[in-house]
Amino acid sequence: MSVILWTASCSQGPKENSTEQVLNHCVSKVRATAASLPNADRMPRNIAMGEKEWKTVSLHDWTSGFWPGILWYAYEHSGDESLKQEAERFTQPIEQIANTSAEDHDIGFQVYCSFGNGYRLTGNDTYRRVMLKAADTLATLFHPTVGTIHSWPAKKEYPHNTIIDNMMNLELLFWASKNGGSTRLYDIAEQHAETTMETLVRSDFSTYHVGIYDTLDGHFIKGITHQGYADSSQWARGQAWAIYGFAISHRETGRADFLETSKKLAGVFLSRLPEDGIPYWDFDDPAIPKAPKDASAACIAACGLLELATLVGDQSESETYQSAAVDLISRLATANYLSREDNLAILLHSTGHYPKGREIDVPIIYADYYFMEALLRLKEFGLAI
Ligand code: GLY
Repeated sequence: MSVILWTASCSQGPKENSTEQVLNHCVSKVRATAASLPNADRMPRNIAMGEKEWKTVSLHDWTSGFWPGILWYAYEHSGDESLKQEAERFTQPIEQIANTSAEDHDIGFQVYCSFGNGYRLTGNDTYRRVMLKAADTLATLFHPTVGTIHSWPAKKEYPHNTIIDNMMNLELLFWASKNGGSTRLYDIAEQHAETTMETLVRSDFSTYHVGIYDTLDGHFIKGITHQGYADSSQWARGQAWAIYGFAISHRETGRADFLETSKKLAGVFLSRLPEDGIPYWDFDDPAIPKAPKDASAACIAACGLLELATLVGDQSESETYQSAAVDLISRLATANYLSREDNLAILLHSTGHYPKGREIDVPIIYADYYFMEALLRLKEFGLAI
């Protein structure tokens, strides 16, 4: 799909887009954000409606790893050493998250997106050791009777809970088990994925957001959808986390049931996309077509589809997933979704927590992170948007 990208030279007429050009645009946005952030212990999270600058949060916020991750992606694409220095500067403070007792499952997002990308690109052994510590910390939340990691220990109203997003944090455990950590980390990750598949994936291959479990005998009490429209509805970002998380679990374990689950989840996600190809925040919100969109769900799903494309054996099936991802990313790389001079973000129109009235139809840092990741994956595939 060939689309039109807004560029600074728009006045000379729109230019044809390409993966490379959009990545260059992302890097220039990243430079502008970096210049606006003096302190490496405050991370950008969202931009309020009508504002230009990022609202920042502490290192303990679940999103704190995405900004250092974005800096690593910008360095990866550009090779610019000053971006590498910024990436190092914003990665380092997150070490304290790895070294404190686990607040929740988000340690996987916080550490893998920052130190994980840093280690992948530099091979810095100090980063490897921080990640091993973080994996051990995450593993302390595993409940052997239930067979999952406790996602939100602080939410006492949901005794032992596990959220679908937690599928993404298994990658840290799988990685650690291959890079000097205990093989027990692999077992925990595999068991977590299996229990999540059996409980949070509904029979129609939509997903619950949260599972509640009995800690005495481990049985699944019920599924709810905390961040979605209703317990029975399909929260778009939850489905996207699940597509990607089960694809990774298959890649690491070789288990056919994880691959099949990811493919079925992807089928549901793609079949429910609206006309402009970008999901509403919840596929079942009765306010559709007036409901807000969630660009972040599109970006995460695109990364999951591109992961799937590397895992399915069949060439034409792989190309189907590639072109679905190209379609999602192409549609985001247009004037409707790409932030121009609006603000410092790369993407507009994500929705964080609609039921709580938070972050509705605004730029959110993880949308930018997964948008850049998807673009880098497209570049690796040699795919143009
Ligand atoms: N992991 C939290 C969210 O997706 O909003």
